Amino acid sequence: MFKILKQLKKLWWLVALVIALVIGKTIVDLLVPDLTSKVIALIPIDGVGDKAIIIPQMIKAGLIALGSVIGVLALEFIISVVSARIASSFEGKLRQKLFDKIVSLSLVDSSNYGTSSLITRTTSDVQQVGRLTAMLFRIMLSAPITFIGALVMTFKVNLELSYVLLCTIPLLLIFIAIIGIKVLPLFKVMQKQTDNLTLVTREAITGVRVIKAFDNDKIEESRFQKNNKQITDTMIKANTLMSFAMPMVNFIMSLTIIGIIFIVALNIKNSTMVDPALFANLQKVIQYTIKVMMSIIMMVMMFIMIPRGSVSANRINQILSIEPKIKDGDLTVNDNSVTSLEFNNVTFKYEGADEPAVSKLSFKASSGDTIAIIGPTGGGKSTVINLIERFLDVSEGEILLNGTNIKNLKLDELRSQIGYVPQVPVIFSSTIKDNISFGSELSEKEINDACDIACATEFISKKEDGLETILADRGTNLSGGQKQRVCIARAVARKPKILLFDDSFSALDFATDKQVRENLARINNSIKIIVGQRVNTIKDADEIIVLNDGKVFGVGTHEELIKTCEEYKLICKSQGVEV
Ligand SMILES: Nc1ncnc2c1ncn2[C@@H]1O[C@H](COP(=O)(O)OP(=O)(O)O)[C@@H](O)[C@H]1O
Ligand SMILES: [Mg+2]
Repeated sequence: MFKILKQLKKLWWLVALVIALVIGKTIVDLLVPDLTSKVIALIPIDGVGDKAIIIPQMIKAGLIALGSVIGVLALEFIISVVSARIASSFEGKLRQKLFDKIVSLSLVDSSNYGTSSLITRTTSDVQQVGRLTAMLFRIMLSAPITFIGALVMTFKVNLELSYVLLCTIPLLLIFIAIIGIKVLPLFKVMQKQTDNLTLVTREAITGVRVIKAFDNDKIEESRFQKNNKQITDTMIKANTLMSFAMPMVNFIMSLTIIGIIFIVALNIKNSTMVDPALFANLQKVIQYTIKVMMSIIMMVMMFIMIPRGSVSANRINQILSIEPKIKDGDLTVNDNSVTSLEFNNVTFKYEGADEPAVSKLSFKASSGDTIAIIGPTGGGKSTVINLIERFLDVSEGEILLNGTNIKNLKLDELRSQIGYVPQVPVIFSSTIKDNISFGSELSEKEINDACDIACATEFISKKEDGLETILADRGTNLSGGQKQRVCIARAVARKPKILLFDDSFSALDFATDKQVRENLARINNSIKIIVGQRVNTIKDADEIIVLNDGKVFGVGTHEELIKTCEEYKLICKSQGVEV
């Protein structure tokens, strides 16, 4: 928990202000019972006294007491405002940091945690920590000061009366300890269950079409119900336990006050003369006693909240402290007129996998070349693409861009050379134009040209708003092929030196597939790497790599492979392509 508070560094002056205010408020607050009892002490116990003298004195003392109460109120108000501000800024910063980190993680790093967990960590966990921070500022300092101050004051006023406190405080502590031991583990469970609930909800929403198509609503509902019930049960358990706390604390507090009054009564009974300051002192002791008890409750709440927040803080720290496996290099890309990309005996193995997903792959391409990768699913094709983008780093061998190992290049430099079309089209909820320009400053013509190459112009022009058409979240208002074409336009619009198409023509009809490939063939200053399943899509490539189970079965042109590569022949035959 405390490690995460380091993020507060930039807010230090607000933190210092709040600390000063809290200390000030606590001290004034401790003076209040003393000041009010001064008013009571002025009342003559035997009813005899000079009103003309006593009343002005009482008014003066009363106003001072009132002033102190108003002072406390005002300070409390300011503290609330400032600490809420600290907490919100803290939450904001934390969220931003987490988000930046998550975005920077490699595929392998983030898949260890899962999307839902990453989302819960960025939202609910951050909120939990923020709330705790706001509380901490208000309580962490003021409760211990109040506790010690009020205890000292009680003892100072009357030693005998204070003994009651010595009996009841341990009672309170024991009781609280019992509840704490039972409740704390539940909070840990609760956060984990929130993760699960987010997972189920997310899957149900993103998979809604499949769920409906398979008429699986009932099963999904019961899955949600089960998770929802689990979390509800845990909450009920925790809240039931917690609900014992307040009445019990009230009871112990009343017990203390009764004890004090009892001792006073005994005193009066046993003495011949009543101490004139007795009532004022009694009132003072009772008020301080209440303060002692309340500060204990506050400290206890803190001790309950801290572990609860710690669970969240740990979950956040876990992410923040991930050392990204993909390290940034510091070299810039050599500015050659001809770009060259070379795989040199590249092997890659996923963590925990027995066999490499790509092994001993070598090829070389330069501007204008088209390299195709074909093979069954799971063959390692996407892995090759991910290696070029450095979403993954090679296990053995090296990938060279213009002669430099890409591990040594600045990541953003490397990626700015590449136009990437993912296997599953990624569409953002914005206009088609934004989806294509995607952060780059592109002219109208550049965007239109890109759409032409991707054969997207026609369907876009049929939309009422054309390029300004707003696409729904994940592009649900486009067909699969249309989404792919928007993604292709996005990749080519930046005129990158390297174009990666990860099975990006799979949803296109044959005619469009052919047209897009012909258009791409005219871009002759880029290296094109095309992953495909269809022989027709890739057979014109300058070099075709046949991958299966991570192994390279053949490298060559279509004509060469037909003669030399059994695996390729089989693929051709299965697709009815003449060999
Ligand atoms: N993130 C991952 N973690 C572990 N194994 C993976 C991961 N992604 C893919 N694989 C495995 O690596 C192999 C190659 O996958 P991939 O490159 O996606 O194949 P392709 O694109 O040819 O269908 C498959 O056996 C797959 O199960
Ligand atoms: Mg793939």
